[in-house]
Order: sequence, then C-alpha cells, then structure tokens
Amino acid sequence: MSILPLSFSFLFLIFLHLPSVCLADIGTAAWYPPPYSRELLFPDAATACYGSDASQFPSSYLFGAAGEGIWDNGAACGRQYKLRCLSAVAAGSCQPDQTIQVKIVDYARSLVSPGSASGTTIVLSQKAFATVANWTASQSINIEIQQV
Ligand SMILES: *[C@@H]1O[C@H](CO)[C@@H](O)[C@H](O)[C@H]1NC(C)=O
Repeated sequence: MSILPLSFSFLFLIFLHLPSVCLADIGTAAWYPPPYSRELLFPDAATACYGSDASQFPSSYLFGAAGEGIWDNGAACGRQYKLRCLSAVAAGSCQPDQTIQVKIVDYARSLVSPGSASGTTIVLSQKAFATVANWTASQSINIEIQQV
C-alpha cells in the first residue's frame, strides 16, 4: 500500500483549516445589560442598526454591539462573528472550548446601558458573554474573533 494518498489527505486537511486560522483576529469583549431594544419601559432604547425593530434580534440572544474597530460606518450591522475567549484578568474566567456566533445589532458608542464597554472590539449581550466566560468574574475578556 502506498503512503502517498495518506500524505495527500493530510495536506488537504491542513489546507482546509488554514483559512480559519489566518483570518481570525485578536480583540476584547465586554458585555452590556438590557434594554436591548425599545420597550415600553425604555423609550430611549433604540438600536443604532435597527431602531426599535426587535425582530432583528436573534432569538438565541447571541448578539452584540460593534466597537469602533469593527463598526465600519454602520456596515457592521447584521454581520456575524465567531468568537471565543482566550484569557481574562481573573484567571479561569474563560469557558473552555466554547465558540459562539453573534450578530451585530448595535453600535457600542450609542448604547443606552454601555455596561462594561470602553474601547472594546465588541460588546456582547449578557447571554453571549456568559456563554464564553464567567461574567461575574470578568468585565472584559481577550478574544479570538473572526467574521463569518
Ligand atoms: C465565577 O466567578 C465567581 C467570582 O469569581 C465565582 O464565585 C464563581 O464560582 C465562578 N463561577 C464559575 C461557574 O466558575
């Protein structure tokens, strides 16, 4: 039996995985609490992307607000990002092996309740943040982030 087909499939595997390694960026994530869109109790809470249209929010609650670096003059609205926690100030805050996909629904600078946002790459919904990290232990985490 020849060893050639085996090495070819190895090469192919490596090739398949390269793009995801190359395109990922390093950034930071914070989180913000509700209100996430306009509700009776919060008349000022309209999103920079969709105003008061709450139907644009993923029902999974996995969404976020774009920081300066990825806002792209509003073009970021609706973009999907895959991210995972790399490290945090409080050791052990990252949930190991948790990668989530979030949709951009707002602009970090225009949040009514900015939460722990300040100069971060992305500000996540509480649900999204809690999926990749212990949100009571860390306000901000270092992440690997990649547009989908
Ligand atoms: C999250 O962090 C808090 C505060 O450091 C700690 O008390 C709690 O046990 C942690 N939760 C988990 C699931 O690690």
